Amino acid sequence: MLYRQRLGTAVAGYWRREPMALLRLRPGRDDPYAIYDRMRRAGTLAPTPLGNWVTTSHRVCNVVLRDRRFGAAPPGPQARSGGAGQDLSFLEMNPPDHTRLRRLVQPAFSPRQIAGYRPRVEHTVEALLDRVAAGNRFDLVSALAAPLPIAVITDLLGVPDANAERFARYGALIGGAIDGVRSMSHAARLRAASAELGALFESLFELRRREPADDLVSALVAAEGDQVKPGELLSLCTLLLIAGFETTVNLIGNAVNALLDHPDQWAALCAAPEDLAERAVEETLRFDPPVQRTGRFALEPLELEGKPVQPGQIVVTLIGAANRDPEVYPEPDRFDISRAPSVDHLAFSSGIHYCVGQPLAKLEAVIALRALAERMPRLRRAGAVKRRNANTIRGPIRLPVRR
Ligand code: HEM
Repeated sequence: MLYRQRLGTAVAGYWRREPMALLRLRPGRDDPYAIYDRMRRAGTLAPTPLGNWVTTSHRVCNVVLRDRRFGAAPPGPQARSGGAGQDLSFLEMNPPDHTRLRRLVQPAFSPRQIAGYRPRVEHTVEALLDRVAAGNRFDLVSALAAPLPIAVITDLLGVPDANAERFARYGALIGGAIDGVRSMSHAARLRAASAELGALFESLFELRRREPADDLVSALVAAEGDQVKPGELLSLCTLLLIAGFETTVNLIGNAVNALLDHPDQWAALCAAPEDLAERAVEETLRFDPPVQRTGRFALEPLELEGKPVQPGQIVVTLIGAANRDPEVYPEPDRFDISRAPSVDHLAFSSGIHYCVGQPLAKLEAVIALRALAERMPRLRRAGAVKRRNANTIRGPIRLPVRR
């Protein structure tokens, strides 16, 4: 079955040049933006071969993400996806369940809490960069982009240091499946990883029920009962773990990658890291966002861009395309950290599912870029970048550099 699906995608993509299929193949991994440009010519809303809809338009993406006639779950009683440990909790729920669970985790990301994480993020970045010896070649992903978000999210959840590495390993396996299951053996590995991660979390829940601490898991187990229903806790924590590091690693990777591709921009950042790190992060989020797409189910019959959308049909919102929509951004393919757009990018989505971890992701990326620019202004490439084999999540898995 999986094999037949993959063959079908290859035929549709390479032979029929069908863009939705091409996005899932190598051309989509190498340069999805060229494919989005082709798709843009089909108008602001186009049918997909699977009987759904797709949009590359910033305006239409924003409308769909905000319109309450659309939902993250299909209409009708909410069913759990459950496949291979990929139940992504309230990310895949509609109100009122979405509202109830989101409200519980929101306080952990308040401006005050985020300001409190700053010293720990700074300390972690400095310690990671201390390990990179002068003159040496190193992989920016394994040296900085990956370990930073893992350290931060395990700390925020309250995972004991001794277990952090195992949480990260199983979480990465499950997070990698956001782009789909590749083979039977991949499915088996995912099932095993979910079972291991589940057991690790269960023992953490036990610990925090007995010995509450000042962390998010303690707050969540204290809310078990009315606010967190039986069976909801594990997927909620899995969502936070995976969302916490599967995305931020790519933001840092994509930022350094784009900056090294544009030496004038890297030089500008190094001349004023304090002032420009935030702008460089914002421009990366627009230019090369870690989450390239999401989608919404129509909850009722409706009309969009003059076309009839039936309940249960999905509108795929191509965030990566929306962020380069020429209607909204002049010269959208130009990476320019001095850009001050009048319209927000959609890298963190929009509407009620707008990324709850956004301030934390930005804090980590800004501190990482600033420290790199301050400490390693001569940073340059030392080999070819290798991209992850995925199309929803975009970022390097290996980025060889020399300081
Ligand atoms: C650069 C880093 C990040 C990016 C690009 C990103 C992107 C996104 C996007 C696009 C969504 C919404 C998906 C949709 O509308 O269907 C989302 C939701 C979410 N993100 Fe992030 N995220 C990042 C970092 C984080 C971090 C660090 C955390 C937590 C520690 C986090 C936690 C969440 C959660 C819990 C949701 C679900 C929100 C809801 O459904 O109401 N994210 N993120």
